[in-house]
Amino acid sequence: MTAGQQPLLALSAVTKVFGGVHALDNVSLNVLPKQIAGIIGPNGAGKTTTFNIITGAYRPSRGTVMLGGTDIGSEPSHRIARAGISRTFQNIRLFADLTVLEHLLVAQPHGEFALRRLLPTRWANPQALRRAQETLEFFELEDVRERIAGSLPYGVQRRVEMARAITARPKLLLLDEPVAGMNHDEAEHIRRLMLKLRDGGVSILLIEHDMSFVMNLCDYLYVLDFGVMIAQGPPDQIRTNPVVLDAYLGYAA
Ligand SMILES: Nc1ncnc2c1ncn2[C@@H]1O[C@H](COP(=O)(O)OP(=O)(O)OP(=O)(O)O)[C@@H](O)[C@H]1O
Ligand SMILES: [Mg+2]
Repeated sequence: MTAGQQPLLALSAVTKVFGGVHALDNVSLNVLPKQIAGIIGPNGAGKTTTFNIITGAYRPSRGTVMLGGTDIGSEPSHRIARAGISRTFQNIRLFADLTVLEHLLVAQPHGEFALRRLLPTRWANPQALRRAQETLEFFELEDVRERIAGSLPYGVQRRVEMARAITARPKLLLLDEPVAGMNHDEAEHIRRLMLKLRDGGVSILLIEHDMSFVMNLCDYLYVLDFGVMIAQGPPDQIRTNPVVLDAYLGYAA
């Protein structure tokens, strides 16, 4: 961590117990402003659980979660979202009967009016429409804006999910395996978009198994194994860390 820089997000000594299982054991991590941080680790390591704690889906059994100096560890999900954290899910979660544009409208304040077509899209508030349009352009989704999102190819659906997460203009974007199932060109497209988002001031914390994607994108990496943070550092250090190679990269090879 750069000396003196206040983290945007800070998890300190977070433990999460399910029944007798320690899904997370004394985990601490920081995301700095305008940083792209990554969490890697084998299946079941506790990566998605970390996101569920940050977003308020689960409460930590112990430890604290701070966003910009405010303790959000016991806040409900909607307040955490409003405080500036958006996420995507490991398995795509889109509304079955909404268009791409409608997904971007419902993600905004009072966007629920667009849901189930209570109001035709053309009546949506102009600011919400403008934001949705900007986001469509950013994610190169203008051509499919009137299409039912669930009918689009998988890689495009993933982009719609990211677009939806970004429409609320979060400070911190959490991405759970954003390029899983994508081909190289699609993943490269996502990588460029993430760099642009960061340059625009958004911090990103992502979970990903695709090592070349992670190593080429992240500024800093955290490695989880069985709920324990076994290593952290810049990608170049992680790549050659014997503990990590043994626990994860060796396993993946
Ligand atoms: N709601 C829950 N109830 C009980 N156990 C859970 C729950 N959520 C997660 N776990 C357990 O916590 C551990 C960590 O799961 P988690 O989903 O965080 O792993 P992960 O690192 O995201 O794995 P993957 O790479 O497979 O997505 C696993 O043992 C899982 O079974
Ligand atoms: Mg997971």
